[in-house]
Amino acid sequence: MRALTGIKPTGAPHIGNYLGMIEPALALTQRGSKITEGFYFIADYHALTTLHDPALMRQHSLDVAATWLALGLDPSRTCLFAQSDVPEVCELSWVLACMTGTGALERAHAYKAAQDRKPGEWGVNAGVFTYPVLMAADILIYDSNVVPVGADQRQHVEMARDMAQAFNSRFGQTLVVPEVLIREEVKLITGLDGQKMSKSYNNTIPLFAPSKKLRKIVMSIVTDSTPMEDPKDPDTCNVFALYRHFSTPEQQAALAARYRAPGMGYGEAKQTLYEAMEARLAEPRERYMYLLDHGAEVEEVLVEGAQRARSLARQTMERVRNAAGFRPGVRTRTG
Ligand code: TRP
Repeated sequence: MRALTGIKPTGAPHIGNYLGMIEPALALTQRGSKITEGFYFIADYHALTTLHDPALMRQHSLDVAATWLALGLDPSRTCLFAQSDVPEVCELSWVLACMTGTGALERAHAYKAAQDRKPGEWGVNAGVFTYPVLMAADILIYDSNVVPVGADQRQHVEMARDMAQAFNSRFGQTLVVPEVLIREEVKLITGLDGQKMSKSYNNTIPLFAPSKKLRKIVMSIVTDSTPMEDPKDPDTCNVFALYRHFSTPEQQAALAARYRAPGMGYGEAKQTLYEAMEARLAEPRERYMYLLDHGAEVEEVLVEGAQRARSLARQTMERVRNAAGFRPGVRTRTG
């Protein structure tokens, strides 16, 4: 059983990425789980739909790789690599594009949202339109069984399933049809202002902000103006919502009791949240800082990952070529 997921290098990962996807993906590949292998990658080709700055592309690619490693990705069980190191994925992307109606792409939520944001002469680029096709190629080229993603990616994974089925029904059983995996309890991670945490809303908490900065950001979470002496409702509070993800049920009950009793200020709740986050993130943050300073170590992992990923991708492409009636890949014949 193989799990696969990707992260776009469009910024340093934030708490929403961590809770919604990175942590569940890492948990999936723990020893004893039925997933025996992870394929986790930097979706740099996907980032190119919006990021046209080479220095930032390099920086954020390192950020993403270092984040996975700092949080405990084990390279002996999980292949960590860059999407663009496996050019076969673009070949498969073309093949899948020829199995996909333009209507399906027009109905994609992400494409529609991009159109709403970008009217004007050029509008959105074609990469945004074909984004789900490349994403399907990512998933299908590694015979992935399970795709852990945030809730916003559900439709894209469903489109990948459709493309696999379309190919299989024309050319015979060739591609594995993947399952999406979305963690229900982390469907909605709220940001500083109570909306969904997202870079586009500018309300994120960086995953590895230095301790002082993290505290400052946590203190800026929006709360209501219930006076100190009045009881408060944990279930409608942004601070408490985040605390749930960094605490045990007992700790949650204790903080909820403080909310309901008079005399708790939101500053106290925020301090409790900050301490819980710090307890979870301080160690990985140190590893992260180390890896940013030792890019060569990260590079080594990525090179090895690319080799492994590429050899698997070539095998799948060979099956696809054969099924669709292409000549065998020259590469394969000449070794
Ligand atoms: N579209 C995903 C996101 O924005 C990133 C991604 C690219 C991905 N290819 C993928 C996720 C393949 C899962 C599988 O979050």
